[in-house]
Amino acid sequence: MTAFQPRVFSGVQPTGNLHLGNYLGAISRFVPLQDQMPALYCVVDLHALTVWQDPEDLTRATREVTAAYLAAGIDPKKAIIFNQSQVKEHAELAWVFNCIARMGWLKRMTQFKDKAGKNQENASVGLFAYPNLMAADILAYRATHVPVGEDQKQHLELTRDIAQKFNNDYAERIKELGLGVPNPEPNPEMPDELYFPLTEPMIAGTATRIMSLRDGTKKMSKSDPSDLSRINLTDDQDAIAKKIKKAKTDPEPLPSEVKGLEERPEANNLVGIYAALSGQTKDEVLAEFGGQQFSAFKPALSELAVAKLAPMCEEMKRLVEDPTHIDAILGEGAERAAEIAEPVLHDVRRIAGLLEARYGHR
Ligand code: TYM
Repeated sequence: MTAFQPRVFSGVQPTGNLHLGNYLGAISRFVPLQDQMPALYCVVDLHALTVWQDPEDLTRATREVTAAYLAAGIDPKKAIIFNQSQVKEHAELAWVFNCIARMGWLKRMTQFKDKAGKNQENASVGLFAYPNLMAADILAYRATHVPVGEDQKQHLELTRDIAQKFNNDYAERIKELGLGVPNPEPNPEMPDELYFPLTEPMIAGTATRIMSLRDGTKKMSKSDPSDLSRINLTDDQDAIAKKIKKAKTDPEPLPSEVKGLEERPEANNLVGIYAALSGQTKDEVLAEFGGQQFSAFKPALSELAVAKLAPMCEEMKRLVEDPTHIDAILGEGAERAAEIAEPVLHDVRRIAGLLEARYGHR
């Protein structure tokens, strides 16, 4: 290979309620990319297992995330849609990366600290090694582009660090076996040929960090105990309207420029949501609503959110009622994904010197 083939990979965990942050920060952005380059969209059920999941709920949620992908407009004829556990290469490469990543790197991960809370001793080993599995998801396909929300930035930096250390540690071997790709960003500290690409995080747009509707300083999250804090993709029209109506605000009217949103986290969040849903910039939204009270802005936001989300929600509900159809898509997707990941793992075994007598030699 003379250059890395552009390829998109991203994933969503099947843990409880999908919300507006998942949609605007990730899923909605997956859709146009499927027309730009080969794409894989994964339901990361092995990641979900890092904290306790009721087995039946996990299966249901796996199908529900798949339904959300489809309802949002991902076409399984173009992109590969599959669930992680059906492609064993993810777990296998994650083990190799467990041996590449350093304890110190993982100890710095803020998501682990947040999720494990005060009682780290009682967190699963899987939760600690979570970012290594995420690196394996991406690199099992040598993916070059990863669209995610802001909260995944640190994990993607770690993915680059893992790729870099693997490329460095095995540099001679990669070259000897003729498996390297010329480094697209030549640099004296790095080998001139790489096996894994240094993945590009795609964190862009107005919706990379949607905040809680109850507290503009906290991220909108599946795990927030207050359901009023988030708009779920399964919420009906009344629920969406009610949550926007109850969303926390401040007493001032909306400013007419983005600068006026500084120090006003709730106003900033609602304007950002409006901008992302309408495909406008925040400036454009403020050009229309600047000077108006929230009592005028909220009904407009509500109407927009319902118009955008209700048809998708209906489609999701229709799709989850046919699990056979969903399972067929996931099964076919897993086969197509494995076709890409199997040769990568074959290379990785050769590079690392893991004997492959059972598979024969290429
Ligand atoms: P997860 O399941 O927590 O979230 C799925 C996607 O939604 C984005 N997101 C948000 N974006 C904007 N505002 C928010 N409030 C918000 N909340 C969530 C997340 O950034 C993410 O893009 N570790 C990942 C899943 C994963 C993955 C991967 C992603 C596993 N392997 C490989 C990319 C590539 C996660 O927990 O996402």
